[in-house]
Amino acid sequence: IIVNASNAVGRSIPETLFGIFFEEINHAGAGGLWAELVSNRGFEAGGPHAPSNIDPWSNIGDEVYVNISTERSSCFARNIVALRMDVLCNSSGPNICPDGGVGVYNPGFWGMNIKKGKTYKVIFYVKSSGSLNLSVSLTGSSGVPILATANVIASASDVSNWTKMEVLLEAEDTNHNSRIQLTTTLKGVIWLDQVSVMPLDTYKGHGFRTDLFEMLTELKPRFLRFPGGCFVEGEWLRNAFRWKETVGPWEERPGHFGDVWMYWTDDGLGYFEFLQLAEDLGAAPIWVINNGISHNDEVNTSSILPFVQEALDSIEFARGSSDSKWGALRASMGHLEPFDLRYVAVGNEDCNKKHYLGNYLNFYSAIKQAYPDIGIITNCDGSSQPLDHPADFYDYHVYTSASDLFSRNHKFDTASRSGPKAFVSEYAVTGNDAGQGSLLAALAEAAFLLGIERNSDIVSMASYAPLFVNSNNRRWNPDSIVFNSSHVYGTPSYWMQQFFTESSGATLLDTTLQTNSSSLVASAISWKSSMDNKNYIRIKVVNIGSNSIELKIYVRGLDPNSISGSSKTVLTSNKVMDENSFAQPRKVIPVQSPLEAADNVLDVVLSPYSFISFDFLR
Ligand code: AHR
Repeated sequence: IIVNASNAVGRSIPETLFGIFFEEINHAGAGGLWAELVSNRGFEAGGPHAPSNIDPWSNIGDEVYVNISTERSSCFARNIVALRMDVLCNSSGPNICPDGGVGVYNPGFWGMNIKKGKTYKVIFYVKSSGSLNLSVSLTGSSGVPILATANVIASASDVSNWTKMEVLLEAEDTNHNSRIQLTTTLKGVIWLDQVSVMPLDTYKGHGFRTDLFEMLTELKPRFLRFPGGCFVEGEWLRNAFRWKETVGPWEERPGHFGDVWMYWTDDGLGYFEFLQLAEDLGAAPIWVINNGISHNDEVNTSSILPFVQEALDSIEFARGSSDSKWGALRASMGHLEPFDLRYVAVGNEDCNKKHYLGNYLNFYSAIKQAYPDIGIITNCDGSSQPLDHPADFYDYHVYTSASDLFSRNHKFDTASRSGPKAFVSEYAVTGNDAGQGSLLAALAEAAFLLGIERNSDIVSMASYAPLFVNSNNRRWNPDSIVFNSSHVYGTPSYWMQQFFTESSGATLLDTTLQTNSSSLVASAISWKSSMDNKNYIRIKVVNIGSNSIELKIYVRGLDPNSISGSSKTVLTSNKVMDENSFAQPRKVIPVQSPLEAADNVLDVVLSPYSFISFDFLR
């Protein structure tokens, strides 16, 4: 490899090059990054009619003692269903309640992670036919042990109408498979709605689960594409993501059934929270708007204007002053200043749909007229032929085998240098080569990313997909970050992405790879580290072959005898299909070691199936 690191040579890589794509898939948000512990907190998962689906709520006490049903009697108009609990037993008299009382429990998303010494805020809305004496407890999965408990007591007149209750519970022990339960021994009727349990220690109090949030900060994402994917579209438009239903007080959000990934979400992680997440990560938000097209139905272009208005309103919500209609709603939610929304994607994977182009042109002209600075992303791939419509960026998605993705490191070499830039908004190795996140997949992805880095004059942004999977509900495989209620690990693909974080905003160096091997790809950058404010040259090489390869590295402009402070990092493993897991979360991770002056560092041997990165201090 010959790398030219003399000062005058190099090309700036876009600041935005590497980011993340968050989709509400695999319970990434509901039961994942969004720290709400209760699933189906408003009892609406079965829709707005009664009887509704209260899953995963269950009753405590059999029907001799308690009768659980749903009613359209909530105080919240947009989510009208509430739980009705007819308590038939009492603390004394003929039908005495069983020990511990009767009521309901919710195990959250495959068990709540309750930790000793941590405080949980429980909020619920209640109405009662008489006086109220309710035990609110966090317990093990069978109701024992009790980890934290409080009694909520109120006179009949205080709870004859819907009343908000708030309780702080501090856990006395740790249990990763806990539940919340609300029980009583007082005969009468109790109605419950919007039951929430939130840990107090979410990131900045913004509702993001801290361990999962930290996994994202490690990637130093420069943009956040959200909230889908197919999730934006829906199988049917009636189940698509409609942002207005996801903003305002959480209690008043209707929630919706995401019919592509087949689960209910209470939409606690709504449009506002996505913008907040981007801001907290220091990432530019990229808002994928619903363009009136789902997997199975489409709005005719002649009727698309309400959807266009909805998109304009969403931008006003993000960017408008607090005097504007939608900016005022944002401000009332706690964000007085506008969010820095500069990119909008019109739909997802809809280019071939009948009404895409017609609808797109309506969105494009309306948004450009109102917000000329917003970069608009079309779903139509402009990498092989010119687009027939205006756009600032075009989406490019690729899910394929390792060998195919490896070969696509040349994909953008021949793409047009004029016209819109590419946004590789979804890429990954899938199928047999991927396992549930293999080293092989990560190596092929690395080669693809090296090609993107090399072509970053035309590729502006790239993100892996999907980002998260709750291992209890794997709707798509593989994924970058795997978690359950209490644990998390990154797949090799996750760790591989970390190698590329420093490339955003760096300088691409002129690199020549002279080899007979078809299994090698390389690229080099120079960049300033924000950790120590020093300048580095980073050379990355992937060897996806089964043989070791000897390589000489020449860096013009670097003194090979002065390498103190330099290091190398290797990502490899014993077997090419090795994966990380909850049991072995760090089996396939990058290993860094300092370069000693005595090493003949510029004469290297690349192991089979490995990735190596050299950081030379300039
Ligand atoms: O990333 C998973 C899915 O793949 C996305 O929802 C969709 O855009 C693509 O088909």
